[in-house]
Amino acid sequence: MQDILIIRQPKHREEYEAMYNLRWVCLRKPWNQPKGSERDNGESNADQFIAVLHDKVIGTARLHKINENVGQIRYLAVDESYRKKGVASKILEAIHLTAKNKFITYLIINARETAIKFFEKKGYKIVGEGPFLFGEIKHKKMVIQFGRSDLRMRSIIENLKKTLLTED
Ligand SMILES: CC(C)(COP(=O)(O)OP(=O)(O)OC[C@H]1O[C@@H](n2cnc3c(N)ncnc32)[C@H](O)[C@@H]1OP(=O)(O)O)[C@@H](O)C(=O)NCCC(=O)NCCS
Repeated sequence: MQDILIIRQPKHREEYEAMYNLRWVCLRKPWNQPKGSERDNGESNADQFIAVLHDKVIGTARLHKINENVGQIRYLAVDESYRKKGVASKILEAIHLTAKNKFITYLIINARETAIKFFEKKGYKIVGEGPFLFGEIKHKKMVIQFGRSDLRMRSIIENLKKTLLTED
């Protein structure tokens, strides 16, 4: 069977459950955190991303808006046996595209120290200290700003919307 990695939203309950389970296994279980601790009350207002290979959810992340211009990425995780193969990179590409389509200018993440190098490779910069989780996980707050050409595209689209609205 051909190996085709697909990045998309979950389609049905089983995929949502697989997504939450992957979050829990990668980001909560090793620190003895209970099931349920991998979710918060922002789930329904967020864009969920899953990486699917041969019908199996092997990666995930979430994007939610903090305000008009700023989005936050949370819960990025890739199944341990599929790491260092470019899966998180593909998820991040999809998130960046979605963020730009929503006219988000800045994306922020509280990056675990073990993931800082990954985000640096993707253009994120450390801007401050992040939370200290479960008594042992240090984070840095990291940010990426999208370029001027993306901002210019925003003004073009906004103008286009006005034009369309004023025509009959
Ligand atoms: C961090 C994580 C999501 C990276 O996923 P991945 O699919 O292995 O990442 P990719 O294969 O797309 O890596 C892209 C690049 O970053 C590098 N990279 C990935 N993880 C890295 C790490 N922990 N340390 C250093 N470099 C790393 C890769 O080597 C690759 O480099 P290259 O482009 O020079 O070849 C994954 O290790 C993971 O799920 N970790 C546990 C959960 C976690 O900590 N999530 C982040 C919460 S902030």
